[in-house]
Amino acid sequence: MSRKKFIAGNWKMNTTLTEAVELAKGVVETVGKQADVDVAVCPPYTNLSAVYDVIKDSNVKLGAQDVHWEAKGAYTGKVSCAMLKSAGVTYVIIGHSEQRQYFAETDETVNKKTKAVLAAGLMPIICVGETLDERKNGKMNTVIETQVKGAFAGLSVEDALKCTIAYEPVWAIGTGETATPQQANEAHIFIRNVLVGIFNKQTAEEIRIQYGGSMKPDNAKSLLQQSDVDGGLIGGASLKAADFKGIVLPQ
Ligand code: PGA
Repeated sequence: MSRKKFIAGNWKMNTTLTEAVELAKGVVETVGKQADVDVAVCPPYTNLSAVYDVIKDSNVKLGAQDVHWEAKGAYTGKVSCAMLKSAGVTYVIIGHSEQRQYFAETDETVNKKTKAVLAAGLMPIICVGETLDERKNGKMNTVIETQVKGAFAGLSVEDALKCTIAYEPVWAIGTGETATPQQANEAHIFIRNVLVGIFNKQTAEEIRIQYGGSMKPDNAKSLLQQSDVDGGLIGGASLKAADFKGIVLPQ
């Protein structure tokens, strides 16, 4: 089974409007014509529309970093799927470890967001991953399995196929510490087996699993060469177009 690679830049809480437009221009110039890799950038909400204007005629797609599952109403500070869609968004990151750690994201809210995103015709990027303590205490597989099962609960095969999973070991995010290609691949194979259990082998083989956590131009190739690493969710290294290019097109 050959899955098309998918590299997404998670800009997190970085970039003013001007900076976002500049960065988006750089991404379009360097990888905007890539057809053999799917590429997306996920700026902060305030910059979505402006970035969309820059990328819309290229192969680069727009992603958001979160969403609320409700359609509208009295939810101060929140943004709905319809709002994201109207800004040109295709993908939505859900369940990032920073959301889980700082903003009370749970497997249940991840599931609600996933369902809302799919119902709106958008595509979720669902983040899972263990902390260092969980890995050290041998709880890694249980944690990941619970997160994957929670996120996909109640989804049809058809909807599951629209999802991407990002395996992001929390200890590797923004720390400069990367999972070795073997560690990443083992986790990805484990996740794929969980998907076999939830759905079936064919569905599990088709769902893309990105690696995230200090992925950079100099380690991208060895990670992306692994059998079950289907792309990357890139934080720090997505903030410079040249570095991002070095991951989309690793040397
Ligand atoms: P990082 O972040 O590449 O800066 O480690 C990845 C992520 O959190 O998505």
